[in-house]
Amino acid sequence: MKNKKILIINGPNLNMLGIREPEIYGKETLEDIYTKIKSKADSLGVETEFFQSNIEGEIINAIHQSMNKFDGIIMNPGAFTHYSYAIRDAISSINVPVIEIHLSNIHKREEFRHRSVTAPACVGQICGLGSNGYIYALEELCNE
Ligand code: DQA
Repeated sequence: MKNKKILIINGPNLNMLGIREPEIYGKETLEDIYTKIKSKADSLGVETEFFQSNIEGEIINAIHQSMNKFDGIIMNPGAFTHYSYAIRDAISSINVPVIEIHLSNIHKREEFRHRSVTAPACVGQICGLGSNGYIYALEELCNE
């Protein structure tokens, strides 16, 4: 059987992890999180590809291009979560399952973060569990 391929997309400002508000997002860098995901993926026999962008259109292109290439997407859309109808529409346009991740518990924070416009287009959302959220999403997509 062919190995599953999972795309991990991280949106704006997530390249600043480690430096950015560590009291909220923790001390791990995005590279540290990639290493953790890669090691879990190796143990599950899954292939991964990582993409980070601060640009909405680039994220939309990556979502479109995942079709016929990936079996699932794990995505942290960053602040786009709260207002990007274009990313939500991109998720709805493809037949690849997407799990939304947030490192922080968005429901415990400022009111504008409570609403995700992208989550209704996703299979599900994991938030508030730090970088473990990516690992749980990977396990879920492998079980599908
Ligand atoms: C975030 C939560 C968002 O509200 C914020 O804009 C981010 C990170 C998280 O992972 O907790 O950039 O998606």
